[in-house]
Amino acid sequence: MKIGILISGRGSNMVALIDGVQSGRIPESEIAVVISDKTSAEGLEKAEMRGIETLVVERKDRQRAEHDAEIIAELQKRDVELVCLAGYMRLLSPAFIRAFPNKILNIHPSLLPAFPGLEAQKQAIGFGVKVSGCTVHFVDEALDHGAIILQKAVAVESDDTAETLAARILEHEHALYVEAVKRIVQRRYEIIGRRVNFHDA
Ligand code: GRF
Repeated sequence: MKIGILISGRGSNMVALIDGVQSGRIPESEIAVVISDKTSAEGLEKAEMRGIETLVVERKDRQRAEHDAEIIAELQKRDVELVCLAGYMRLLSPAFIRAFPNKILNIHPSLLPAFPGLEAQKQAIGFGVKVSGCTVHFVDEALDHGAIILQKAVAVESDDTAETLAARILEHEHALYVEAVKRIVQRRYEIIGRRVNFHDA
C-alpha cells in the first residue's frame, strides 16, 4: 500500500512509520511521499535522510480548501491510498476527507475523547487525571474525533509536568502508530458505526 505522510514539525511519528515500513514491520507498503505545510518542519530533513521524497505545500496565507486541493493532487499523483497525519497542524477540509474515505489516520497524545485539540498533555495535567495516553484514529471532519483504531494508556505521575508526560506518551505513540498502520494495511478490520473491529486482534 502506498502511504503519504503529512507533517508540520518535528516528525518523530513520521520517522517511526518510515522505519516501520523500511524494516518490514509494516508489510507490503511504501512511503510514497512526506508533505509538510511548513518549510521549517524539522521532519523534512529526517525523511530525506531516509530516502523518502519530500514536498512543501506552504499553507501560509492560503485558504484551506485551495491548499488541501493541492495536497490531494500531489497524493493522487503518487497513487497514495493511505494518508497518515503525523503532527500535521491543520484541520482537513471536507473535500480532503471525501478524497480518502476511511483512509486517513491521525495520532493524538491523549485517550480520546478526553483532551482533544492543542496541548493535550498540558490539559491532562491541568485536569488532574491519573491516566492519559495516546490514540490512533480515523480522521473525520471534526477535530480529533473519528473512529478509534488503537489506544494505549500511560500513567500520569504526581511529579509529571506537561513536558515529562509528553515525552513518556511519545515513546508509546511511535509503537502504537506502527501497530495501527500495520493492521490497516493488512486490511484485517471492519468499521461498524464508530467501532473498528479487528478480526484477529
Ligand atoms: C505528537 O504528540 C502527536 O501525537 C501529535 O503531535 C505530536 C507530533 O510529534 N499529533 P512528532 O512531529 O510526530 O514528533
